[in-house]
Amino acid sequence: MNDIRKIERDVNMANTKISARSVDVFYGETHAIRNVSVDIADRTVTAFIGPSGCGKSTFLRCLNRMNDTIETCRVTGDIELDGRDINARSVDAVQLRAQVGMVFQKPNPFPKSIYDNVAYGPKIHGMARNKAELDEIVEKALRRGAIWDEVKDRLHAPGTGLSGGQQQRLCIARAVATEPEVLLMDEPCSALDPIATAQVEELIDELRQDYAVVIVTHSMQQAARVSQKTAFFHLGDLVEYDDTDRIFTNPRDQRTESYITGRIG
Ligand SMILES: Nc1ncnc2c1ncn2[C@@H]1O[C@H](COP(=O)(O)OP(=O)(O)OP(=O)(O)O)[C@@H](O)[C@H]1O
Ligand SMILES: [Mg+2]
Repeated sequence: MNDIRKIERDVNMANTKISARSVDVFYGETHAIRNVSVDIADRTVTAFIGPSGCGKSTFLRCLNRMNDTIETCRVTGDIELDGRDINARSVDAVQLRAQVGMVFQKPNPFPKSIYDNVAYGPKIHGMARNKAELDEIVEKALRRGAIWDEVKDRLHAPGTGLSGGQQQRLCIARAVATEPEVLLMDEPCSALDPIATAQVEELIDELRQDYAVVIVTHSMQQAARVSQKTAFFHLGDLVEYDDTDRIFTNPRDQRTESYITGRIG
């Protein structure tokens, strides 16, 4: 038994993609994240859950330095991606965000064609030598976003003309086009109907083959369906982090229990 536990632990450690240690986040005087340490596993979906205002989005944004764009925001502590400090001076935030892509709550396609939405990142990062290569990258990303069949005959129509669920899958395609290693999703399905939600959830499960995916969700059912690891946040603290099954069937902390049974939040 002990041996099995030890092997599991070693495998998990070898599997770490992002390692956060003693992370604190302040917005001016507001202390939004308190001393959070967590390892995010590769090729795994990790769900962040917790009541509104507990710091899920704030902590998610630490992972690709999106908080840099908020003037009052100050982040302390260490965050490593594959063992490299993402806040080091030598790390370019734009480059980092290509590696650690992000999908937002509200689908936000650029006011450009479907094609150009996806081609934008690869162009900036010089990923294609010519038009044929770029076409290939765009097609691959749209296939990865499970939307190719729906848009292949109208690649030059505006991305904003798609339905909400299609726009969200376009945004996922745009995020994967730069070949990220980690995909951060902040309530990616909250603006979608149940059918589009199911499509995006299926896609998330598929993306797990290649990426570390972190998803913020208010839906306990969604966390249980798509994730293998779950982190429960409460008032800026990471209260509990464990296998999703364990969090939902046998949580260790009273606050987790209260939240998943609907008593707080
Ligand atoms: N740009 C900001 N400026 C100032 N305070 C902020 C900012 N963004 C978040 N906060 C504060 O930080 C705390 C955590 O907010 P955050 O948005 O991370 O919570 P959340 O868990 O994502 O909530 P929700 O589920 O409602 O999206 C809250 O007290 C919030 O008011
Ligand atoms: Mg949020």
